Amino acid sequence: MCGIVACILKDNRAAPVLLECVRRLEYRGYDSVGIATADPMINIKKDRGKIDEVDSELDLADLPGSMGIAHVRWATHGLPTAENAHPHTDCTGEIAVVHNGIIENYLEVKEELESEGHVFRSETDTEVIPHLIEKYMDEGMDLEAATATALRKLKGAYAIAAISSREPGRVVGARKESPLIVGVGDGEFFLASDVPAILNHTKNIIYLDDGEMVIIDGDVRIRDLDGNTVSKEVHVIDWTADMAEKAGYDHFMIKEIHEEPGAVRDTLTEMDDVMRVVKEIGEVERVCFVACGTSYHASLVGKYLFESILGIPTDVILASEFRYSARALTDRTLAVFISQSGETADTLNALRSANSRAKTLAIVNVLGSSATREAQHVLYTRAGPEIGVAATKTYVSQLTIIYMLVAAMGAPELIEKLEKVPAIMEEALGDEDNIRALSSHYSNVSDFFFIGRGFSYPTALEGALKLKEITYIHGEGYAAGELKHGPLALIDDGVPVVAISPPGPCHDKTLSNVEEVRARGARVIGVGSTLDEALRKEADDFIGLSPEVDEVLSPLVYIVPLQLLSYYVSVERGLDPDKPKNLAKCVTVE
Ligand code: F6R
Repeated sequence: MCGIVACILKDNRAAPVLLECVRRLEYRGYDSVGIATADPMINIKKDRGKIDEVDSELDLADLPGSMGIAHVRWATHGLPTAENAHPHTDCTGEIAVVHNGIIENYLEVKEELESEGHVFRSETDTEVIPHLIEKYMDEGMDLEAATATALRKLKGAYAIAAISSREPGRVVGARKESPLIVGVGDGEFFLASDVPAILNHTKNIIYLDDGEMVIIDGDVRIRDLDGNTVSKEVHVIDWTADMAEKAGYDHFMIKEIHEEPGAVRDTLTEMDDVMRVVKEIGEVERVCFVACGTSYHASLVGKYLFESILGIPTDVILASEFRYSARALTDRTLAVFISQSGETADTLNALRSANSRAKTLAIVNVLGSSATREAQHVLYTRAGPEIGVAATKTYVSQLTIIYMLVAAMGAPELIEKLEKVPAIMEEALGDEDNIRALSSHYSNVSDFFFIGRGFSYPTALEGALKLKEITYIHGEGYAAGELKHGPLALIDDGVPVVAISPPGPCHDKTLSNVEEVRARGARVIGVGSTLDEALRKEADDFIGLSPEVDEVLSPLVYIVPLQLLSYYVSVERGLDPDKPKNLAKCVTVE
């Protein structure tokens, strides 16, 4: 996965502006970065490494010109090296291209081009694009026609931006299965992988659809690959650039955890939309949630809610396993696809295959993302842009929408409870100093267990996932009752076990499991009601939450201290929680 930007400005600041925009896309990939400007000759600076590292070495903003393209890379084809960094060029260096996606038939196209005399410099799939454009421009086509012809020959996914010194003042962009938006400023134009990248420059956005091309010069024209004009609406975005900044926090992740009460509040304003969608969907006999990672954990909470409150049988399937699962979808099945980005390849593929067999609903945070265009019904979480790679505020917003769905489908009493959640979350965030202090005891351990029953089981899984991804400590989330069937063998002196035990029917059984692990030497971190003296007594460390939160509501609140714990352990270990190694915010490959 990668991030791309392009701009045409009124003055010669293209390189510094591209650098600023591409910094906001660093969450999409951070193994290499590059910028090309046209003045009118193409000038390129690129290398492997994070933006700051490459910038201090190459001074990326020091390139002439009023237009250009830029890229941050997360390698898929070819190692992260300077040669494989984008932009890529043709043989003559007159055409430069940035690309997000995967060209599946690139080897075959590359061989064909090589046999015609084209010389390649990288191992990437992308490099075939500038060479194909070169070939067609040499045959007499302009940049737009050559790009369209090149793209018609390619199989796979792409969002691209192309420039050529043969046609100064013009950028051609296109998308298929990878995101690309157009920003329309005051006489200035932008392309980007997402909206926050260009929010400092314009809030007027056009969302491109698959198979569309955009030509920006003094104007914006949208066409399909056959050259037919497509008319598009310009959306005015109400996100501010500040919403995409760290706002004084050390990391995006901690800022985003603090934004959780607001994210839940904003999502609750979508109730009319939820009611409308539930009405449109009609009768449902079965629900099937499909998602990956954190969104999968939100789906698991959905299963407990749909089955225990509404009595509707509910499956939860990992999106990457969906195609291997023989579950029968019918026109009375509601298949719910949860994805904060709306661009996760596994989830999109599952959605495509379910569309003809079931009623499909996407729950998405990113307006205009692919899932929102492909699902039959869409509900938005209102978390705002999430930049930290680890999902935090989007998770609680996904949970909120699921509770709202359940409320709209037959449990209206949930709404009153939900309205109290933001204030209770604020209270939980008030305990941050205690959690920071506590995290210092756990920064050098090698294993962690998280246990819970019922509604607390998904919380245990999500707590463990957060820990793994940002601290690199091995974390296992387990159903508390399942420990004795194997993993208890791993409990030894001092192994931390986070026991999630809100007030409710599961409480006493979880407490017995806490006694089991304590008897084997575990160091227990109890997470429960402030009034829970029994758990406090069993625990070595205790995190107290409002007694008002029962098991049913607990996933929304109990995850907050677990996110804080992972965040502070990560900081304590000297890591960057916003950019965990090997991971990227939006996974557009299978
Ligand atoms: C973990 C995390 C990932 C995502 C997963 C799905 O913190 O962020 O596990 O939840 O990659 O992403 P979306 O929700 O965008 O489909």
